[in-house]
Amino acid sequence: MSLFAKKPMVDLLAEAGESGKGLKRTLTAGSLVALGIGAIIGAGLFVRTAAAAAQNAGPSVTIGFIVAAIGCALAGLCYAELSSSIPISGSAYTYTYATMGELLAWVIGWDLVLEYAVGAATVGIAWSEYLNNLLVNVLHWKAIGYAWCHSPFEVSPVTGEHGIINIPALGIVTVLSLLLIKGTQESAFVNGIIVITKVAIVILIIILGWGFINPENHTPYIPEPAVYSDHQGIGHNYGGVMGILGAAGVVFFAFIGFDAVSTAAQETKNPKTAMPIGILGSLAVCTVLYILFAHVLTGLAPVDFFRTTGKEASVVVAIDKYMPGYEWLGKLVTVAILAGFSSVILVMLLGQSRVFYSMSRDGLLPKVFSDVHPKYKTPYKANLIILVLVGLFAAFVPGDIVGDMTSIGTLFAFILVCAAVIILRKTEPNLPREFKTPWVPVVPILGIIVCAAMIFGLGWTNWLRLFGWLAIGFLIYFGYSVKNSKLRKK
Ligand code: ALA
Repeated sequence: MSLFAKKPMVDLLAEAGESGKGLKRTLTAGSLVALGIGAIIGAGLFVRTAAAAAQNAGPSVTIGFIVAAIGCALAGLCYAELSSSIPISGSAYTYTYATMGELLAWVIGWDLVLEYAVGAATVGIAWSEYLNNLLVNVLHWKAIGYAWCHSPFEVSPVTGEHGIINIPALGIVTVLSLLLIKGTQESAFVNGIIVITKVAIVILIIILGWGFINPENHTPYIPEPAVYSDHQGIGHNYGGVMGILGAAGVVFFAFIGFDAVSTAAQETKNPKTAMPIGILGSLAVCTVLYILFAHVLTGLAPVDFFRTTGKEASVVVAIDKYMPGYEWLGKLVTVAILAGFSSVILVMLLGQSRVFYSMSRDGLLPKVFSDVHPKYKTPYKANLIILVLVGLFAAFVPGDIVGDMTSIGTLFAFILVCAAVIILRKTEPNLPREFKTPWVPVVPILGIIVCAAMIFGLGWTNWLRLFGWLAIGFLIYFGYSVKNSKLRKK
């Protein structure tokens, strides 16, 4: 059987029927927007924005947000069509299996590990940064030593100390993985509270911080192109168009999660209108907030600050230093964002276990990934294996690297999703589609171009990491999955 064997649509729809049994259609467009925002606002805004300003674009990181939002909106329209025609868990992996065949489905499933598992590690590392701030500035205890909350590849730009292991990041992903095994999923109520808190602190920072913007920090808004070499000697394309594209790739992380909305198609009332409103609505709200937030953040402090003392927990450190009288705001943000990060990690870990579960059911991964706990009814072995993977990344890899790996992996997945829409229109023209992407193939093609531009902006070290990751994936596919695929056995 060829490497491009496709999972028949009838099988998929039958599985969708199975998995959808018992699910009630209760979600409205409004609840989808809330679901999206809950999964979206996190480390991208509170950690990666400052990093993108420092390393890539200075104040023009705001333009980077616009580019990233356009890419997400185009890919989001494609996601909405696929999720309404193939409403089953496993997201982009499942769509690809039906449209582009097994090999590419494997590629995307493996690639989604970057989005979910490596993404969870990134947010765990961000959590660790803000934890130190909680200990020192809110609780007035001692900070955790640099060596114990940083990877071995990091050196402090302030004291020159070396990292050894990031214990808080490892701790938070462990706790949340264990909760997930127990079957804890955030309730709609808790999600609602977290969404309101997250949006509220972002708005507060924008409104209160606006008066503290120093126009000098915004001049020039788009820095002249140059190579910026950081304190560890790593070079970055800073300023100009390349700087903006690089920043777009970095802050793209901040939008990841809106695709979670698309997996709720089966539980949505009137998905035809609710889905696009849910996906595009949550994107629109976040885009506006992100641009204003980035404008304020880069206006508060000069770029050099984000390269040195403000490199970590940047938002709170900037508030404390450049907004005198608003220390309470810094404390509030610290507490709120620690809760906010936790909910994002939970969603990502859950997403990862769903993808592995689907791949294992198809025989592409060993059966342990779909073994369900007798009491808790969760794929607990998958959760434990994922914990080891996420834990290793969280403990031993710098946040910048895992963050960019998450971005590039997800961008690559988005490109395949856009392509899947074009292909499926040709191969399955009569498939019922509750929502149709407008202007096919223009929208998917533009989606591919914008996402590819961001991949380009992320630079060759990240391309190499993506290739390396995919190469490991091919070894597993040809070593294991080809022999065990259920589709082939049929
Ligand atoms: N968008 C999510 C975040 O920024 C992944 O944390």
